[in-house]
Amino acid sequence: MKSHATPKSALIAAALGLGLLAGCSTTSSKPKLSSEQVMEEGFEGKGSIAARLSQDKGTQADKMRMAYLTEQLALNKPVKGDLASWTQKTTALHEAAVALANNAPGALVSWKAASDCKKCHSVHKPD
Ligand code: HEC
Repeated sequence: MKSHATPKSALIAAALGLGLLAGCSTTSSKPKLSSEQVMEEGFEGKGSIAARLSQDKGTQADKMRMAYLTEQLALNKPVKGDLASWTQKTTALHEAAVALANNAPGALVSWKAASDCKKCHSVHKPD
């Protein structure tokens, strides 16, 4: 689905991006959702938001929600694995979700690469 980015959605997505940057530069910004909650709401199952996005079937609401969910994921501490790797992966994931929400060119390719389940789980998901 190719929907046109409205100025409003672009603004909200930009605000989400800024929220993440602020989260990185302060220690007081606590996530409202745990990594587990983000996975359950956004990633688990064949009909998940993540799956819809990867099939290019996501609605604008899906994209906005994923921008929020990945921001929350990035605010979490890694439950396993080192922080540098976690920050790199979750930031790339969040940026790709924001790009999708902005309907930016190349966003889908970035999203598919950044949302590779195994790549992240092999390092950061506890057994
Ligand atoms: C950037 C990292 C990252 C990516 C990408 C990622 N996951 Fe996860 N996932 C995690 C982490 C970390 C956990 C463990 C959370 C915990 O146990 O606290 C997890 C746990 C899960 C769980 C278990 C949730 C539960 O109830 O304990 C499921 C299901 C899951 N992921 C599905 C997926 C799927 C499907 C994809 C790909 C479409 C995916 N994840 C991509 C990091 C990621």
